[in-house]
Amino acid sequence: MMLGPTGTGKTLLMRTIAKLLEVPLAITDCTPLTQAGYVGEDADSCIQRLLVNADYDVARAEMGIVVLDECDKIARQTSPHHGRDVSGEGVQQALLQIIEGTTLNIQAKADRARTYGGSNSSGASAGGKETFTIDTSNILFILSGAFVGLDKVIRNRVSKNSMGFNAIIREDEEEQLAQSPRATTNELEKRSVLEQVETQDLATYGLIPELIGRVPIVCTLSGLTESDLLRVLTEPKNALVRQYEHTFRMFGVELKFTDGALRAIARLAVKQGTGARALKGIMSRLLMNVNFEAPESSTRYVIITEKVVETFQARREADRVLPLYYSRGQSNYFHTDLAKENETEPEEKKRAEDVAGLACRPRRRGGRSPRADSAGRRRAHNRI
Ligand SMILES: Nc1ncnc2c1ncn2[C@@H]1O[C@H](COP(=O)(O)OP(=O)(O)O)[C@@H](O)[C@H]1O
Ligand SMILES: [Mg+2]
Repeated sequence: MMLGPTGTGKTLLMRTIAKLLEVPLAITDCTPLTQAGYVGEDADSCIQRLLVNADYDVARAEMGIVVLDECDKIARQTSPHHGRDVSGEGVQQALLQIIEGTTLNIQAKADRARTYGGSNSSGASAGGKETFTIDTSNILFILSGAFVGLDKVIRNRVSKNSMGFNAIIREDEEEQLAQSPRATTNELEKRSVLEQVETQDLATYGLIPELIGRVPIVCTLSGLTESDLLRVLTEPKNALVRQYEHTFRMFGVELKFTDGALRAIARLAVKQGTGARALKGIMSRLLMNVNFEAPESSTRYVIITEKVVETFQARREADRVLPLYYSRGQSNYFHTDLAKENETEPEEKKRAEDVAGLACRPRRRGGRSPRADSAGRRRAHNRI
């Protein structure tokens, strides 16, 4: 079982594993699962999906991996309105046998099965369907979920264990949290709490003990920090920054982010608390004006500085984001400015910019915006 806050790459990790490994892998979302007989998918649909992904080869499917994503969503509901908890506890009960190892009869359409060469099938049945018999005992099951609120459960247990003065200790903790100036401290603390997860916490959260017992390994993914988010922005092959730079290049515009700007974006994303998913929203809102203005105009170069991101962060509705625009003939200004933003010390940078400001006159918006000019708080060490 994998626990971790949202947007830390749980699903991505699974998909990457699926790509890299030769074994068939089926990622099933637990949310639509219901107990057999009710509207919704049955629990054994995950095995069915695995069979499809294995091209109806039963022997391969029996060695496959099944990922049950969002498994915290099938936690037991304690709502008094339900007679039976058909999408929570019922599903967990249905999963028990599948995870433990059982023989399932899966029906698949015969014509599709035949095109994939389903020779291992145990014989065709009536109604154009073919029945496959699958033994699930060698299938690896991975459960993953965000388990929002689990940290509170753990904290309750931990402070209950420290007898006697626990009320005081907890108050102190809460106070510390409230006073901590940065959200990251809070995150760090949350992470260390999550790492202490034990099976009894999962039981309190709403998983039934039988299911927990069948999942021997529980690991925790930590939330992404600012530097992690910075790497997510720039390093992967399909990183957001690369995507945007490429899109703009197709329109003949060279888009560059200074290192300070990237860090500011990462900082903003940490604040939103939705992990790497926040980056996408920030980037698209940040570049909305540029998207409309730069392509098919005479602008050829665009720099997003830290100041631009900060303006964006603090902006009201009427305010606008003002990146640095350069037209075709100003490529040398573009390159010197970019290098300057990325390399110089804040004080030096200020001086250098005063000098450069006399020479450099970006064509649009009546010269450089004063907001985009001042030195970044955090300076960069390397070029983009
Ligand atoms: N460690 C990471 N490295 C690169 N990209 C990441 C990372 N974590 C998350 N992402 C990005 O965030 C998106 C959402 O991640 P996902 O795995 O779906 O989160 P969750 O943990 O909530 O399932 C992914 O599509 C990916 O682009
Ligand atoms: Mg996910």
